[in-house]
Amino acid sequence: MQSRYKAFVWVIVVLLCLFGAMQLYRPALTNPPVTAELQAPPEVKQVLQNSCYSCHSNETKLPWFDQVAPAYWIVASDVKEARQHLNFSEIGKLPAPQQKGLLWEAVNQIQLGAMPLPSYRRVHPGSTVTPEQLAILREYLNPAGANQYPAAPDANKAAPQYGAWIKQSGAPLQVKPESNGVEFLPEYKNWKVLSSTDRIDNHTMREISRQRCSDQGDCGSSDQPVARWNGPLQR
Ligand code: HEC
Repeated sequence: MQSRYKAFVWVIVVLLCLFGAMQLYRPALTNPPVTAELQAPPEVKQVLQNSCYSCHSNETKLPWFDQVAPAYWIVASDVKEARQHLNFSEIGKLPAPQQKGLLWEAVNQIQLGAMPLPSYRRVHPGSTVTPEQLAILREYLNPAGANQYPAAPDANKAAPQYGAWIKQSGAPLQVKPESNGVEFLPEYKNWKVLSSTDRIDNHTMREISRQRCSDQGDCGSSDQPVARWNGPLQR
């Protein structure tokens, strides 16, 4: 009995030492200056500050249990990656339409249940965006009544154009660049979709895709993600 007890104590001591040693490895996680903070009404910012700023801003505040390794390692790497995708402390330097697009992407990610990261939500239940908070974000981006459906004449023009287009059997099809200037790529059908954003304010859909690489690892001329807008033309 005595020796079993001793062995147990030793196991605990060794585990505690290991745990202590883990704390010595701390990848740096700094808060760079806030250079171009998001400009939005306080109620909108409050939602984002509560649920997103710990990863998507330069104002990361970690509760004590996130400061302890190995949780700290996970959070530190999440924050670094999150800031590259979306940083509310620097978003203001982007052109206004791009800021709006990012906010729509944020709303989409929340609606999908993808953000805040589910693993993070489990440990920080208060970070979950409630339906009421989501409604605040949507109302800010698309105030009730500001529904911008394309005018009927525009929509009516599109149908015959499309009919004429699909009738040209055999002839090589010339597809004009999209309204944002992105050219049509015949091999686009083989691309892999990374994310898509639905904007209910102007009824467009944005898609971020990446060219698939061949088995030989050849990724073609461009391996950069490309944004495409579909839906009613934005003229
Ligand atoms: C625990 C850290 C964490 C929190 C909190 C968090 N995110 Fe993220 N977010 C990430 C990471 C990591 C990525 C990049 C990897 C990925 O897309 O999963 C990301 C990516 C994103 C993207 C880009 C998605 C894409 O496909 O490019 C958006 C938009 C986003 N987050 C919105 C939000 C919003 C809105 C909130 C708050 C409601 C939020 N995030 C909260 C970690 C976080």
